[in-house]
Amino acid sequence: MFITKLELTNFRNFEKLNINFNQKENVIFGNNGLGKTNILEAINLLSSTKSLKKNDDETMLRHDQIGFNIKLWYTDDNVENNIEYQYLNKTKKIYFNNDLLKRTSDLLGKLLVNIYIPSDSYLFSKSPEERRSLVNETISKINNQYLYSLLRYKTILKERNKAFLQEINDDDIIRVYAMELISNGYKLMTERRDLVININKTISKYYNLLKNNQTEGFKLKLTYQNQFKLIDNYDEYLLKLKTLFEQNKSFERIKKQTLFGPHRDDFTLTIDNTPVENIASQSETKLATLALKLSIVEYIKRKTNKIPVLLLDDALSDLDKTRINNLLNLIKNLDQVIITTSQINENIKDLNTIDIEQYLSKEEL
Ligand SMILES: Nc1ncnc2c1ncn2[C@@H]1O[C@H](COP(=O)(O)OP(=O)(O)OP(=O)(O)O)[C@@H](O)[C@H]1O
Ligand SMILES: [Mg+2]
Repeated sequence: MFITKLELTNFRNFEKLNINFNQKENVIFGNNGLGKTNILEAINLLSSTKSLKKNDDETMLRHDQIGFNIKLWYTDDNVENNIEYQYLNKTKKIYFNNDLLKRTSDLLGKLLVNIYIPSDSYLFSKSPEERRSLVNETISKINNQYLYSLLRYKTILKERNKAFLQEINDDDIIRVYAMELISNGYKLMTERRDLVININKTISKYYNLLKNNQTEGFKLKLTYQNQFKLIDNYDEYLLKLKTLFEQNKSFERIKKQTLFGPHRDDFTLTIDNTPVENIASQSETKLATLALKLSIVEYIKRKTNKIPVLLLDDALSDLDKTRINNLLNLIKNLDQVIITTSQINENIKDLNTIDIEQYLSKEEL
C-alpha cells in the first residue's frame, strides 16, 4: 500500500499544501516548526481518525478558520483510492472514493498506516492507560468487532460505575452490566493476547537488527498483564468471571467502581528480563520502540495481507550513523515509509527528499 498524493487546506499551519509521494522511501525535511509532524498527523488521522496531539478537530483548524480539508490518494493492491476528510463549522464529513461515509468508524481498515512519534519512546514509563490506548488503536484499525466490543465495554463500564456512585442497590442491574462486561471483555482480552503473541514473534529480531545488525542477541519480551488467566473455553471463563463478580460485589460497592476486567490491563516490555524503562539507554529505548512498531507492521501484514505505510516522525535524531543505516536497511522491505527530519545527513541524502520550505508561502515561513 502506498500514498501517492496529499492535499491540505487550512490544516494547522498550512493554508494550502500539495505533496506527491514516492512509492518507497520519502524524507520530509526542514527546520523546526515548519509543519513536518503536522503532515504525518494529517495522514494518520485518515487511518485512525484520531489527532496525535489532542483528540479534537477544533485544534487542527488553522488559526481563525472555520474549516479544514484533507484529501489523500493511495494505491492498494493496484487499485487507486481517495479519502477526503472535511471539517466545517464543527461538523465532520468523510468521503471514501467520493462517497460519504455514514460513520467515522467506516474509515477504519481502509488506509493502513502505522506511526512512530517521539513520545512513543516513553510509552513504558507512562500510565497503563497510554499502553492500552496504543493496543486498542492498533487492533481497532483492522478489526471492527474489537472496536465494537471496546465501545460497548466503555459505555457499560461507565454506566456500572455510575450505578455504584449513585448507590443504586439493585443487584440485578449491577449483574446485567457485569454480564455485558464479561462477554465484551473476553473479546478484548483474547485479541490483546493475540497481538502480544504476534509481537513477540519478531520484536527481538528487529531490536537486534537495529542495534547490532544481527538477528540474535538480546531477548525482548512484551508481557500482557491481566488480572486473571484467560481461559480458552468460553463457558469455563464465563463461570469463573461470574463467580468473581459475585464474590466481590460488596467490595465493589464499597470502592464504588468495577474492579475487574480489561480496563485494568497493562503491558510491560523487558530486555533480557529487565523492564526497558529500568535498563535501556535513550537510543536503546528508541530502538526498542521502533522494534515494537516494526512488529506491529508485521502483525497488520499477517492479519490483512497488506503492508501498512510506516510513518516515522523524527525517528533518526539521537541515533548514530550505524543505527540509522540499520533502520534504513530494515524499512527497505516495507512498501512505503515517510520519515521526517530536521537534518539531512549522508545516510538519507539519496532517498526521495521533500524540502518542506519549498511548499510554504513567505507568510508561513
Ligand atoms: N491549529 C494551528 N493553526 C496554526 N498553526 C498551528 C496549529 N497547530 C499547530 N500549529 C503550528 O504548526 C507549526 C508546525 O508544527 P509541527 O509540529 O508540524 O513542526 P515540525 O516541523 O514537526 O517541527 P519540529 O522539527 O520541531 O518537530 C508549529 O509552529 C505550530 O505552532
Ligand atoms: Mg515535529
